[in-house]
Amino acid sequence: MADIKVFVGSVFGGASEVAEQVISALQTDGHQAQLCSPPTLAKFQQAEAILIITSTTGQGDIPENLENFYLQLQAQFPLISDIPFGVIAIGDSGYSDTFCQGGALMYALLEELQGKAIQAMLQIDACETLEPEIIAVAWAKQWAQLLYSKPGV
Ligand SMILES: Cc1cc2nc3c(=O)[nH]c(=O)nc-3n(C[C@H](O)[C@H](O)[C@H](O)COP(=O)(O)O)c2cc1C
Repeated sequence: MADIKVFVGSVFGGASEVAEQVISALQTDGHQAQLCSPPTLAKFQQAEAILIITSTTGQGDIPENLENFYLQLQAQFPLISDIPFGVIAIGDSGYSDTFCQGGALMYALLEELQGKAIQAMLQIDACETLEPEIIAVAWAKQWAQLLYSKPGV
């Protein structure tokens, strides 16, 4: 079972709650899922698999508690060649131009760092569901199953 490092971006706590439920479900499935808060480069580079769970704020921005880490990754550019990753993006479709852009920015950067996307990014519309954790847990369990079996998307 994989050592999964989870990185969270959240302003009001919604994405953090989703992350807690996802981590708990992955642990139940036997994975060593761990929340990396605050996020560090060392944890990022140690990971066997990386899971990003982030909302979007401002005008398509990454929440502050993840944004500095994003900027650090951009500046230092630590390659994570072939390390599998996944992104769960939580947003509000009312922001039609920047829906889930925080997650999309993270996804694009992890691809640039040569990580291996094994499942397309999950977008959760906070307008459409009161229980984002249910959607996120189902997606994450499937993502974790693919860690050893799929070449990438
Ligand atoms: C000031 C503000 C700006 C936001 N901007 C965006 C945005 O650009 N795109 C988007 O998809 N959602 C946007 N949202 C919606 C949030 O991402 C959404 O409400 C999310 O569930 C908040 O998660 P959190 O509790 O983890 O912060 C914005 C919300 C606020 C309050």
